[in-house]
Amino acid sequence: MSSVDVREAIEALQRAEVVALPTETVYGLAGRIDSESVLHRIFAVKQRPFFDPLIVHISELSAAHPLCSSWPSLYERLAQEFWPGPLTLIAPKSSLISPLITSGLETVAVRCPAHPLMLQVLREVGIPLAAPSANRFGRTSPTTAAHVEAEFSGQVPVLDGGSCAIGLESTVLQAAEQGGEWWIQVLRPGGLSRPALRAFLDREGIRYRLTREDSAASPGHLKAHYQPVSPVILLRDQIWSDEVKANVECNLGRTLKSAREVSLPSAPQEAARRLYELFRVLSTDADQALWIRRKPEQEGEDWEALWDRVERAAALKL
Ligand code: TXA
Ligand code: MG
Repeated sequence: MSSVDVREAIEALQRAEVVALPTETVYGLAGRIDSESVLHRIFAVKQRPFFDPLIVHISELSAAHPLCSSWPSLYERLAQEFWPGPLTLIAPKSSLISPLITSGLETVAVRCPAHPLMLQVLREVGIPLAAPSANRFGRTSPTTAAHVEAEFSGQVPVLDGGSCAIGLESTVLQAAEQGGEWWIQVLRPGGLSRPALRAFLDREGIRYRLTREDSAASPGHLKAHYQPVSPVILLRDQIWSDEVKANVECNLGRTLKSAREVSLPSAPQEAARRLYELFRVLSTDADQALWIRRKPEQEGEDWEALWDRVERAAALKL
């Protein structure tokens, strides 16, 4: 059995071992940032390529400062408002950050997660923890301790913190000041929605431009990602039918035993919270398809992060 209690989790992390920890977004595969061997082990356990940088988790805002060689004033205000919470900020790194964490980039991703157990672990270990989502590379992120156990066949110790309240990864942002205006780029939409971000920026009278940057700026955010074992078929303009099934089989190059619908709750936060769990529960094997329909009433910025994940999870879009 790989379940550990909070005390055992803290001690294992202090010994520079890898431990899966709960956060409010998804479970993370954590290791202390000052141990090269544990950082290597995170990549090995996850089967993650070294070009994909890790997020550094901290217990409070002041812990971000020594990790970064500069810290924009906007980040201080955003962190005061949204931390602990699902917001990751990209800043120039300091010498405390190993190139292994950043995949050789000059910037580091920092976040203060909002989960009481995770915060307790961070405080008591006393060293920031690097943690990617606790899934094998390219697969669906885990939102319960049982998902992590299944993902790594019980090989990784897991601290059970219940079901993740948000269920999708954090929003990753990078900002720079240009001519008295902040240019804010969303590198990965996530748990903090654009409307929530805008409401704060507007209320504070901050001049800004908010854009979505879908590029190599966030090297790990690949086109194919978050995929369950059963192929996901995203239906944008049609409903499931025999004709669609034949088309899917032709595209996938194999016969499907069955197909199941991933039916989402109607509220966007609830849909986000359930998405990965539904993928896991409904996914059985590669000969069964999961189909999911993008309905007109599920459009808009509150749904942005969810559709981003579904688009990347989809083996086929019709
Ligand atoms: O909610 C989350 O963010 C979860 C929990 C565990 O905190 N973590 C997570 O980590 O999703 P991961 O490794 O699965 O995704 C990290 C994302 C990747 O898309 C990566 O490319 C981006 O953050 N990232 C990390 N460092 C970066 C950097 N220096 N510049 C740009 N993007 C970076
Ligand atoms: Mg991930």
